[in-house]
Formats: sequence, structure tokens, C-alpha cells
Amino acid sequence: MKHKPRILFFDSGVGGLSHLKSVENTFFDFFEYYYLFDNQLFPYSEKPDNLLIEKLVPLIDRAITELKINLVVIACNTASTLILDQLRARVKIPIIGVVPALKPAVEYLVKTGQTDRAVGLLATKATIARPYVLKLIEFHTAPIGQNVSLLGTTDLVEYVENKIRHKPTTKDLKKILAPWLNNTELNLGVIVLACTHFPLIKEEIQELFPNILLIDTCFAIARRIGVIYGFFKQKEIEAQRREFVEYLRKIKGQLHDPVTNKHLLSTKNLTEQEFVELQHHGFADYTHFPHK
Ligand code: DGL
Repeated sequence: MKHKPRILFFDSGVGGLSHLKSVENTFFDFFEYYYLFDNQLFPYSEKPDNLLIEKLVPLIDRAITELKINLVVIACNTASTLILDQLRARVKIPIIGVVPALKPAVEYLVKTGQTDRAVGLLATKATIARPYVLKLIEFHTAPIGQNVSLLGTTDLVEYVENKIRHKPTTKDLKKILAPWLNNTELNLGVIVLACTHFPLIKEEIQELFPNILLIDTCFAIARRIGVIYGFFKQKEIEAQRREFVEYLRKIKGQLHDPVTNKHLLSTKNLTEQEFVELQHHGFADYTHFPHK
């Protein structure tokens, strides 16, 4: 029997769930969802670039073949800004990368007449130093005089990872964000959540920055999948895009319980308890998928 189109979400940890949920809440069970997390190499931002390229590209390639995947979302900024080219050169199916949403952030400041305010880029230490990201900044932020404040943190990734997996944490959110919270000179107008872990605690971050818009890539990725699967005809994309964005805005905040049975895979074997702690995200089964 022909199976439904299969999407593989990939991250170092549970961060990619933010994007999986957005896609699932948009397309329901039109797709079959797989989630592979590389807990063996978590956190990526503390690993050398060459090791990540060497390990991730073959791992994802193997997952695509073995699981008969039709589309991959690299739901990780740290990995996307490093391995996209190599991966795309190696595999034939569409690969969607998740990279910092600098363009809409700058557009927002321009449209709302706040070009005197800065964009805050909140990401991992590795992401804020990537040549790819520095080029993105150069390319998109001229209208605000390249006024970008970079905050790279592994602690925040670990904070979220532990929280979602019901593990204790010693990390303190206010301390992590202190470089921005304590800087009275900094006039942030928008914060780009450029690590897929961060939208999972959006409300907590928003409480600390009550008047600042937080932008993430969750809906943009759902929209991109919609385009690839022809939910919109190429010619009509622009008009439909606006409609679709409106629709996404409406359902935002009303994400319902998971409706599909997703498949979970991890590079380091999970204990039964660890799987149980993740099961409420709608995972039907679990497979150990180690690096070779
Ligand atoms: N969710 C990953 C990201 O978007 C975290 C990377 C890490 O493991 O450091 O960058």
C-alpha cells in the first residue's frame, strides 16, 4: 500500500518539536511524522563543525533511505546553518532548513516605523558565529543600520531541553538573558528566536520582554511545506500566502492536542522512563537509531 508522505524532523534534542507541532497543527494527518533527535551529540553548539558535518549528513541520509522519507525539516538552526549544502548535494528529496528569521524581523521594524530599534538575535553560541548567519545579517539588516544584538547561549538550550524532558535544571532564565535585561542602552524592538528550542518557552521569554515582538520560524516552515506540496499553485503563492498567514495567525495559540501518531527515533538509546516522558507529545513508538 502506498504510504502517506513522510516528513522527518531532525534536531539535536527536543527543540524541533516546536516546528513539528506547527506543521502538524496545519496539515494534521495529511503527513506521517518522524522525529529523529541526536541526543548522543547534544548540544551541537559545543561540538566542532567538522564532526557535525561528518556525523549528521550520513545519519540523515540513512534515515531518509531506511524510513522512506519524502521531505526533511532540519529543525535546528545550528545544524541548518552548517550542513544544508552538503546534505542537499547528497540527497534527492526536498530538505527544508530552519535559519534565523532576520528578514521578517527587519520588515516588522520598517513597517512599524521603528528603524531606530535593534533586532535581538537569540541563538546558540555556534549559530551567532556562523558565516551563513553573518551573511544573513549583512544582507537583511541594512534598513536598520545593521543594528543587531547577538546573544549566543548553550544554557538556554539546556534549560529548555531539561524542562521539556521533565529533568531538573540548575539554569536560570533571568541570568541567561541578563546581557539584554541589564543593558539599558539596548533598544530592542524585536527578538528573533533563532534556536528551535526557544519557541517552546516563548511565553516565559515574553514575560521578561513584555513589549518586544518575538519572532520564530514555526509557521514559516509550515507554509513552506504547503508550497512544496502544492497546497498553493505557484502563480497564486503571493495572494494565498497572505491568506494562509492570516489563517495561521488565527490558529496560533489554539494549538490542539496532537492528532497523529508520530514516530520517535534517537541516536542514544532512551530508557523506558525517558520515552514515557516524551510520549505525551503523541509518539506512538520509539526506535533506537544510532550513529554508525
Ligand atoms: N535546537 C537547536 C538549534 O536550533 C539546538 C542546537 C544545539 O544542540 O546546540 O540550534
